Formats: sequence, C-alpha cells, structure tokens
Amino acid sequence: MNAFGEALPHLKTEVPGPKSRAKIDDLARSECPAVTARRARREEETGVAQDPIVWKRARGANVEDVDGNIYVDLTSAFAVAGLGHGHRRIREAAKQQCDALIHAMGDVYPSDVKIELSRRLAQITPPPLTHSILGLSGSSAVEAALKTAAVHTGRPGALAFWGGYHGLGYGALGITAYREEFRRPFLTQLNPAVEHVPFPDTFRPPFGLPHEATPDRIRDAVLTHIRQKLEGPATACESIGAIVVEPIQGRGGEVAPPEGFLAGLRQICDDHGLVLIFDEIYTGFGRTGAIFACEHEGVVPDIMCVGKAMGGGFPLSAAIGTEEVMASWQLSSGEAIHTSTFLGNPLGCAMGLAVIDTLVDEEWPTRVDRIGRRIRKRLEVFARRYPERIGRVRGRGLMLGLELVKDQESRTPNTELSLALTDYCRRRGYLVLPSGRWGQTLALSPPFVVTDAQWEGFFAVLDEGLKTLN
Ligand SMILES: Cc1ncc(COP(=O)(O)O)c(C=O)c1O
Repeated sequence: MNAFGEALPHLKTEVPGPKSRAKIDDLARSECPAVTARRARREEETGVAQDPIVWKRARGANVEDVDGNIYVDLTSAFAVAGLGHGHRRIREAAKQQCDALIHAMGDVYPSDVKIELSRRLAQITPPPLTHSILGLSGSSAVEAALKTAAVHTGRPGALAFWGGYHGLGYGALGITAYREEFRRPFLTQLNPAVEHVPFPDTFRPPFGLPHEATPDRIRDAVLTHIRQKLEGPATACESIGAIVVEPIQGRGGEVAPPEGFLAGLRQICDDHGLVLIFDEIYTGFGRTGAIFACEHEGVVPDIMCVGKAMGGGFPLSAAIGTEEVMASWQLSSGEAIHTSTFLGNPLGCAMGLAVIDTLVDEEWPTRVDRIGRRIRKRLEVFARRYPERIGRVRGRGLMLGLELVKDQESRTPNTELSLALTDYCRRRGYLVLPSGRWGQTLALSPPFVVTDAQWEGFFAVLDEGLKTLN
C-alpha cells in the first residue's frame, strides 16, 4: 500500500462508520442544528442518506476518518488544500511561527510576517494590484472590497451575477445569488442597492436564447443587458459603484464565461467609473492553471479577493486593490476604520508565505494547467460515453465539473443523479461534492497532488456509478 497521502481508498467499515455516527449524534447535542447536515433531513429532502464522516487526519490527497477509513479527497476540503493536505513546508512554517509569535496587533503593532506577506502578495498579483486588506474568510475579503468600492465611488450599490457565491456575511450575502434560500430569511436586511444579472452560461443561455447560441452571442447579450441597466432611466442602478464577478463561477457549478467577457466588464467599469472586483477566492492560488484566473484573459480588476487556498488551511483572505482605489480610505488617524482583532494573524501569514513560495518554487500553476487538460480529456470521454447523463464538462485547470442532466435535449438539471453519485463515490472511498444552483454538477477541485493511480481508481468508480445508478 502506498504511503498515506498517495494511498488508494481503504475502507474498514461501512460509510459512515459507527464512530462517525456516534460523534455526529454527540455533535447534535451541542451545535446549532443548521450547521452540520444530518442524515434524516437530507434523506427526506433528497432521498440520499449522507450522514457526515468525521475526519481525524489528512495528508496529500488522503483523509482518514475516526473509524480508520481512508479516502481520496477530490474536494481539497472546499478548494483549500490545493497543495495537498498538510504540505511539509506549510507545516514547518506553522511550527516555527508558533514558537516565535502566534498573535500580534494587526493594525496597531503588526508582525514582521504580516509585512512580508503584504509585500509578497503585491508581487504575485498582476500590476497595478499592490495594496491589500487582510481578512479571515472569503466573506470578510469580499466585504472589505465592497466597502472600498463604496468609499472610492461614493456609491454603495453593486452589480453581481445569478449563480454567484461570495459568502454569507450580511455584506457578502447581499451580492451572493447562488441559492434563493440563503437570502430569503434576511432579504430586508440586505443591501437594497444590488442588482443581479444572468451569468453568460453557454450551456444554459440566459434571456431565452437557444441552446445553440454561440458563446459570443451569449456574452454580448449579457454585456448589452448590463449597459442598458446602467444607462437606462434613473433607477436603483444610479447607486451602483462596483461590479463583482467570479472569473469562473465555483459553487455555481464550475461555469467559465465566454472569452472576452471579463474584458467586456472591464470596459463597462471604465466607461461608468465603476470599481471592478474579481472574486478569486475559489479560482486563486493555482487552481485554474494560473496563479489567478484573470491572468488567462489578461484582464486586471481594481480589486481582487482571495482566500481559501491562500492560508494553506489557516483562515486567511485578502482584498488586494490598486494604490489609487485603496488610497480612498485615506491615512489611518490612529483608529483604523476597517480592521479586526485577528487581522494579519502571524500564524496565518507564515502559512500564507509558505503557500506562495511552494506554489512558485514547485511551478504548480503550469503543472495544474497540464494535469487539468489531461483530466478534462478523460472526463470528455465520459461525456461521450454517457451523452444522456452528462450535459457538459465544466471548468478549467483543476476546477472541473460534470454537469448532469435528465436528457441532452431539455438539459434539465439532474440533481438526483449528482447527489446519488456523490454518495456512491464516498461509499467507495472518493470524496466529491455537488455544485451548481440545483446541485446538479459533480464538482472536482482536487489537491494538485492526486496520483495517477488515485485518478484511475476514481474514474473506475465514476464509470460504474454512471452505468448503474438510476
Ligand atoms: C468565490 C467565493 N467567494 C467567497 C466565498 C466565501 O468564502 P468563505 O466561506 O471563506 O467566507 C466562497 C466560498 O465558497 C467562494 O467560493
């Protein structure tokens, strides 16, 4: 058997095993019931039993649960462990930093590593993005970006996209439009000056365009729609100060927009004096085969939000803007008007620095591009083998998805199959997650270090699942 990290799945019990089940029952006695998805509720809603497994340790592409079952993780735990779980350089950086300084005073007495991370971020982001505000979650980075745009333009509103996911804090939730139920209980408390428009999805064209509509036509339809909104008679749009977009929608289903779309948004923002915000929280740090996804098109936003993989597992994020946009905040007069207790936590900064160094030294963006093309080709073979089940292979780099349909003609989302496949794979030791607005996409955002044997094992299970599941 290969070393833990490069091992194939090895299951000793049913999934989830008895220890996982007992611990999840225990958790239910002390955790808010809305947090961890339990078997009974999910089964009621979806017909698929998915009581969680409880993780105990992880390394490389492997995770072990409390029952001693070993899995291959093809989620990177929400696209965080891109370099693999527990990468040696990240662990060592964390240990060293633990011995030196765990906590400093972010905006009052910053640590040396925070200053170093700020400098390195400015180096790896496309110019002229140089000035950052650090945060602790994707949501907080998005909120820092929204506040910056409001301060810069004097306009507190934003334009965002259906299917977009930007986090669930009150500010971020105002622009998140992934699922209506996330917003419904809080609608009256969300920023009223937000407009949502369709994302240019070439598999599910907006505005009633036919399935055969070309990517260019879909792109232009969305861009024209945005212009019309901004230039139309005085409406809520007059208070819009920013456009926020994921260069590839992540939780929305690994949906890449047509070429030229990001450039089109750049032009609109320039024409209207709007701040362009790219949410690269999912796509950043090598995931799509470039350090940042916007590099593929050579389009630079005014603010870029990063998080997830940035901290190598430590909660760390940033909104990185141009000097001009960030200067709108003006000099701190001693009482920072945007900060938090743990801003620039030294442990996180040390781990973030190790992530950047490893990503660059080991040339992961190029490698991810190469591996991603290879995996995509294999998924395309599945799409040809199961044309009535797989509507489209989605995504780029190692941010991929299989969009599942009830039939190719109607393209009706096949949520049931996606959930059943997720469960089927897990029972055979492969962890995947559903994505997409209806949960219809089988999402793959694996650690970059998944071995060939692990991939082959997964493909065999996927084939079996697609062949046998209803
Ligand atoms: C693109 C994007 N933005 C923001 C977020 C929110 O990040 P967090 O959950 O760390 O607040 C996510 C999380 O999935 C995301 O995918």
